[in-house]
Amino acid sequence: MQQPVTPTANEAPGTPATAVGKATVELKKVSKSYGDEWERQEVIRDITMVLKAGELTAVVGPSGCGKTTLVNLVAGFEKPDTGEILLNGKRITGPGHDRMVVFQETALLPWLTAYKNVIFGPNLRGDMPRAEVKKEANRLLEKVGLGEFKDKYPLHLSGGMQRRAELAQAMINRPLLLIMDEPFRGLDAMTRELMQEFFSRLFEENRRTNLFVTSEIEEAIFVADRLVVLSNRPTTIREIIDINLPRPRTFEMLSSPEAYGYKRQALEILHEEALKSFNRSGDQADFVEAYSKRMG
Ligand SMILES: Nc1ncnc2c1ncn2[C@@H]1O[C@H](COP(=O)(O)OP(=O)(O)OP(=O)(O)O)[C@@H](O)[C@H]1O
Ligand SMILES: [Mg+2]
Repeated sequence: MQQPVTPTANEAPGTPATAVGKATVELKKVSKSYGDEWERQEVIRDITMVLKAGELTAVVGPSGCGKTTLVNLVAGFEKPDTGEILLNGKRITGPGHDRMVVFQETALLPWLTAYKNVIFGPNLRGDMPRAEVKKEANRLLEKVGLGEFKDKYPLHLSGGMQRRAELAQAMINRPLLLIMDEPFRGLDAMTRELMQEFFSRLFEENRRTNLFVTSEIEEAIFVADRLVVLSNRPTTIREIIDINLPRPRTFEMLSSPEAYGYKRQALEILHEEALKSFNRSGDQADFVEAYSKRMG
């Protein structure tokens, strides 16, 4: 989480799902390159898509294709070279209080307890009455299952608990859009599954518009309403797959023929992309093999 934010106006603590402010985000012909003219590297090419209000859009793509760059553009940390990104019709020109980003790296301050980490941002900005901050922090920490652990320091929390504390830290700002960049990467398999389930419940409760980047296809299918599959760099949209699985999501759904179909469709594209880059560079053998194996 990087950006200080202010709460969304007129949203009281515990506001029911239907009343939560939500963003529609439109990316229109967005392109982005890095580097000087002679060594310019095109990362994103002509991406047009919509993050629909109240939907979770998951993004998967080959390693290094430009997913984090996409996150940085929507967050407003970077600007597109061409094209534009609109949030509820208004052009994004920089970071804003309406968006929160949760990265893979921990954003918790090690010298503060979980509770103090959650109240730190709002109290620093002073844009929310302290009593309300306190009440909301306690409510959110309970909700993410850290009620008993709120006075522990990050070092004394497990990886999964740290991620949940970060979710509370992001949620207290009531963003219109939650952006997550591989938030569960690095957690062990069991904790990761628990986090996916837990996070889905949280999302289903108030359906904040969410952009969720992951390298795990099953994770993407489990959480997503729509799955965007990206190509190699310069990255473009290869496919958008509607994930028509009921909610609340359960892991059993991943064994359904529908889920298998989505997985197969996404993996075929990623496999093709891996082959292309293998043919180009000759050094992607591990990647090709990894994706082939996962199709079992
Ligand atoms: N600020 C920057 N300056 C120069 N090049 C950059 C910058 N940010 C990203 N890049 C380049 O853009 C490309 C895409 O990087 P990015 O981090 O967006 O990919 P990714 O899909 O998130 O990768 P990963 O799968 O490793 O998370 C990389 O080649 C990277 O070196
Ligand atoms: Mg990345």
